Amino acid sequence: MTHDFTFGRYKSSVHIEKDIPELASILAAMKPDRVILVCDTNTAELAEGVKGGVDAAVCVLPAGESAKTWQSVEKILRAAGEAGLGRDGALVAVGGGVVSDLSAFAASVYKRGAGLVIVTTTLLGMVDAALGGKTGFDMFGIKNFAGTFYPARHVYMPLAALGTLPSREWRSGLAELIKTLMLDDSFYAEETRRQLLALKGALTGGSAPPPITEAAATLIDRSAAVKGRIAQNDPEERGGERMLLNLGHTFAHALESAAGLGRLSHGEAVAWGLSRACALGEELGVTPPERAEAVRAVLEELGYETGAPHPALADREAFMRALKDDKKKMEGLFRFVVPSQSGACLVTIDSDSLGLIEETAGLE
Ligand SMILES: NC(=O)c1ccc[n+]([C@@H]2O[C@H](COP(=O)([O-])OP(=O)(O)OC[C@H]3O[C@@H](n4cnc5c(N)ncnc54)[C@H](O)[C@@H]3O)[C@@H](O)[C@H]2O)c1
Repeated sequence: MTHDFTFGRYKSSVHIEKDIPELASILAAMKPDRVILVCDTNTAELAEGVKGGVDAAVCVLPAGESAKTWQSVEKILRAAGEAGLGRDGALVAVGGGVVSDLSAFAASVYKRGAGLVIVTTTLLGMVDAALGGKTGFDMFGIKNFAGTFYPARHVYMPLAALGTLPSREWRSGLAELIKTLMLDDSFYAEETRRQLLALKGALTGGSAPPPITEAAATLIDRSAAVKGRIAQNDPEERGGERMLLNLGHTFAHALESAAGLGRLSHGEAVAWGLSRACALGEELGVTPPERAEAVRAVLEELGYETGAPHPALADREAFMRALKDDKKKMEGLFRFVVPSQSGACLVTIDSDSLGLIEETAGLE
């Protein structure tokens, strides 16, 4: 399955395939003069599989968010320089969102813009990070402090890579998958519920048994279509439709901060944030109750926490502080994306109505 998108002046093709793509076929699609591969210690084997017999350097980074640093960017740039990559060369990222965000940033600045291919190997990468052109790395203790917009020319989503993905990473990616699908009416079809529940085994079992492959492929395909369409309409997030991709995230970020960074996986927080966004939307008369109920039911069936307050939410002050610090706060107004009759919409809450947010988070 292939989707073609245009993000501003860049064209991006997404290939959802069963197997790990081989560098030889990637090169045939792009014809760069030289390539290097970038991966982390957990995806090095996958990167070797991509490389096959082609002569190309492999830059291996440490795994995890703690490696999303300027030092890693420097390591990629150095590897590209040492390999003699010209502007017509390409970086091929093989990994999750950390590897793809870092490689995409490096590609965007290397000789003022080298070629970029992403072979994304996590569910979160497939449904979110690899598509849409946001790049970046963490700095000064702030996530994604620096970054650019630089979409990959080709994004490969090989389902085979998901076979080794730990269950914690499945839980993280699945919450983002649900978020993206909620922006499309098809989320509320019984068929979608069935397909999501077919992935339940991967959330506890660790690896993906063959029967889930079809459901995963269908959902990832639909998610790519939804995210790609939205990002295409607002490629640099200039206050347009792309804001909707923050559905559930205002609550999620505040929960993550209040619980202590790293205690909850981002996906756990997003799932809870989605249930709170539904509750807020219902309270405001924007989210139809049957939609809110459908979202909560599927999240609960998948084992996510949806109740208020969240068990990890002990520090009320920290939650409200994080909410107030949130970048989505604009001119004294708090902005939340909530499900609506069709997709989702932005609602604003003024400081006088913050009690409603506390109530929605179960803090009263
Ligand atoms: N650019 C964007 O639009 C965007 C969107 C969402 C998230 N992100 C970024 O993505 C990052 C999170 O992405 P992520 O969840 O993929 O994290 P990640 O890249 O750290 O991957 C999670 C873990 O899984 C391992 N892993 C990767 N593929 C594997 C596989 N096939 N089998 C076994 N282990 C594997 C990794 O080594 C890592 O330990 C964050 O830094 C976030 O800011 C970017």
